[in-house]
Amino acid sequence: MKNLFIAGNWKSNKTNAESQVWVKDIASKLSDISADLSKIPVVVCVPFTSLSVINYALKAGNVPLALGTQNVSKFDEGAYTGEVTAKMVKEVADWVIIGHSERRKYFNETDEDLAIKAQKAKGTGLRVIFCVPDDKTPVPTGVDVVGYEPVWAIGTGKTDSPENAAAVVTSIKAKTKVATVIYGGSVTGDNVDTFVSQSAIDGVLPGGASLDPEKFSHLIHAALAATK
Ligand code: PGA
Repeated sequence: MKNLFIAGNWKSNKTNAESQVWVKDIASKLSDISADLSKIPVVVCVPFTSLSVINYALKAGNVPLALGTQNVSKFDEGAYTGEVTAKMVKEVADWVIIGHSERRKYFNETDEDLAIKAQKAKGTGLRVIFCVPDDKTPVPTGVDVVGYEPVWAIGTGKTDSPENAAAVVTSIKAKTKVATVIYGGSVTGDNVDTFVSQSAIDGVLPGGASLDPEKFSHLIHAALAATK
């Protein structure tokens, strides 16, 4: 079986009550493939407010999903009103997405900010999924996974072609020496097979398709089936 990596990005969605329902639903929909899931990381990246409740629910239900968030402060603890530090996240999660194009666009995060964030996250032992829109954007050293996400494909229903995505992923691997590079941008259960069957592409980063347990479990089942 290919070393698949799947990370769902909830973005700014779901209350704690909705998060609990999601965990209950996904647990039942993935129960037939829990043996396979113990071998591949499937990470769900959620808002800070949902971290503790999901961490508890995943452990209590023995659900084979890993937990992450979608941002982290570039500062250590201290007088930084509204910020959540890497150390705070590490207590309840193992992963963080850094550099998503929505953070770059709406929150003006620069390559320099993002490199500091990656360093802070790694310093606490968090594992980093670093997103880039192309193969020219800098990737900090030490990140664990790179997500190639062309901006025009995010949330639009339009995907990159699997062949072009594979070519960009190959170029990112050559430039960064990061071994795990995944594709994101309108990935669904109906098209995931075309991406993961490209040998260069190690997995996918769905946003919208991770919100609904039915759609996310369909995507995970299809990705596994395509790479067995
Ligand atoms: P999408 O989002 O799957 O809804 O296009 C992907 C992402 O932004 O990570």
